[in-house]
Amino acid sequence: MELVLSKSKLRPWNDNDAFSLAKHANNKKIADNMRDGFPFPYTIDDAQRWLNMAMKETRHVLLAIEVNGEAAGGIGIIFKENVYRLSAEIGYWLGETHWRKGIMSEAIAGLSDYAFAKTEIVRLQAEIFSPNIASMKTILKAGFHLEAINKKAVFKNGGLLDQHVYARIKE
Ligand SMILES: CC(C)(COP(=O)(O)OP(=O)(O)OC[C@H]1O[C@@H](n2cnc3c(N)ncnc32)[C@H](O)[C@@H]1OP(=O)(O)O)[C@@H](O)C(=O)NCCC(=O)NCCS
Repeated sequence: MELVLSKSKLRPWNDNDAFSLAKHANNKKIADNMRDGFPFPYTIDDAQRWLNMAMKETRHVLLAIEVNGEAAGGIGIIFKENVYRLSAEIGYWLGETHWRKGIMSEAIAGLSDYAFAKTEIVRLQAEIFSPNIASMKTILKAGFHLEAINKKAVFKNGGLLDQHVYARIKE
């Protein structure tokens, strides 16, 4: 799938993305707000590993955020299973050179609209670590609302953090 928005294009990852992916992802300010597995430093090998996985993925939606002709970030929807199978989780990051231009709030809103229109899911949620005010404001702007704060749910970089759960429900 491909989604052409006004500030970016959301499209599948490809082999040519390794350099731009490593360039934009190699940032502690990004890694600190992501789950473990998003490394810092972020090397070309890490990028290649991600691309190999993402290009094979068939169940979930893992897309590059293309800005100015290069992959400058990532956004994905992970579909849940069993009784949660009409729910999905959304995750995202963007290279720092492109922050505060409205790119991610547009991307989240656009991908959410797409998911509600084209899949069976009725609920999308994002799980945001307590210090990440930027992500909370961004997801609010994309039409999500705060549902819960799970106290001390996250153990990241050797410390406990609260997890803020934001959701958008299909209308
Ligand atoms: C969070 C993140 C995705 C935001 O992307 P972005 O494209 O810069 O977001 P937007 O430009 O759409 O911002 C939307 C609103 O969020 C708020 N916001 C975004 N970044 C902010 C920042 N660094 N500080 C304060 N407010 C911020 C602003 O209110 C902004 O609206 P405004 O510019 O009209 O005032 C980006 O900062 C990022 O990749 N951070 C590191 C990784 C991460 O946190 N991923 C999410 C994990 S849950």
